[in-house]
Amino acid sequence: MKIQDIQNLSIKMGIDADFRSKEGVQKLLDGKKQKFEKLSEKDKEEFDKDALENPYLDSGVYNVSDDKEIKKVLVGIDVGPEEILMAKELGEIDLVIAHHPVGKGLAQLADVMDLQADVCNYYGVPINVAEGLMKERISEVARGVNSSNHQRTVDAARLLKVNLMNAHTSCDNLAAKFLKDFVDNRKIEKVGELIDALKEIPEYKEAMKIGVGPKIFVGSPENRCGKIALSEITGGTEGSPKLYEKMAQAGVGTIVGMHISEEHKKEAETANVNIVIAGHISSDSLGMNLFLDELEKNGIEIVACSGLIRISRAGK
Ligand SMILES: [Fe+2]
Repeated sequence: MKIQDIQNLSIKMGIDADFRSKEGVQKLLDGKKQKFEKLSEKDKEEFDKDALENPYLDSGVYNVSDDKEIKKVLVGIDVGPEEILMAKELGEIDLVIAHHPVGKGLAQLADVMDLQADVCNYYGVPINVAEGLMKERISEVARGVNSSNHQRTVDAARLLKVNLMNAHTSCDNLAAKFLKDFVDNRKIEKVGELIDALKEIPEYKEAMKIGVGPKIFVGSPENRCGKIALSEITGGTEGSPKLYEKMAQAGVGTIVGMHISEEHKKEAETANVNIVIAGHISSDSLGMNLFLDELEKNGIEIVACSGLIRISRAGK
């Protein structure tokens, strides 16, 4: 596989696992195309053409120094200039794959957050309410990432001639789908049982060894779960704190997430929604692993760094 094949696979897998369904994602891309066609020539020039093909603008290719057949990849959750140097030092690394976005992907992180309104709608929140609350939060995130030094890692890759790409929301979609199927296939009554079930997943088992296994952030093991929502695994970053009350009204009792801020935690408490935090880096690893397994099946060797808990399911 070449770099573009790997990027195409990441996007395809992300679409196949998307909460909005394949048709829903296509509708979104068609909408962007229609908007693009109505633009003036000047605005068309400024328009990011990637947006017409890629529904996850936080996932892409940032540097191609040598477009060769990829045999060995260095994969990390956060990739900075350190990991680019590491790839050089290790040698024979054909491509570095990050999970969290860098460069243009980081600048466009907020673009994928629309997905969250659809996820909340999937769990019963009226779409107008979900869209309204997310709109505010999306612009907040867009302003937040605006000040970053976006190109730092990309510049390092360019100077050292290291191929670089990332897979963020595409892989978070895989984790969300995996966890949704996992939870839906079990009869889980209490929050404690949900924690026990999550602890069976190898990535979380590994995370437990360093003290970051699945934890209850709001609620207690004896609380009944009610309807369990996987609404905080994918969609860029944390959504609106005001959504907890709406999710509770829509009939959701427990939310499984990757991480939660204090402000969000307080809102969840007020809404009496149990919050189970599966773990950040471990959940990111789960999604990456499901993608990396496909690379492994194509004969690519995976070297894990920067927090990635590599578990292969490729042989199963
Ligand atoms: Fe993450």
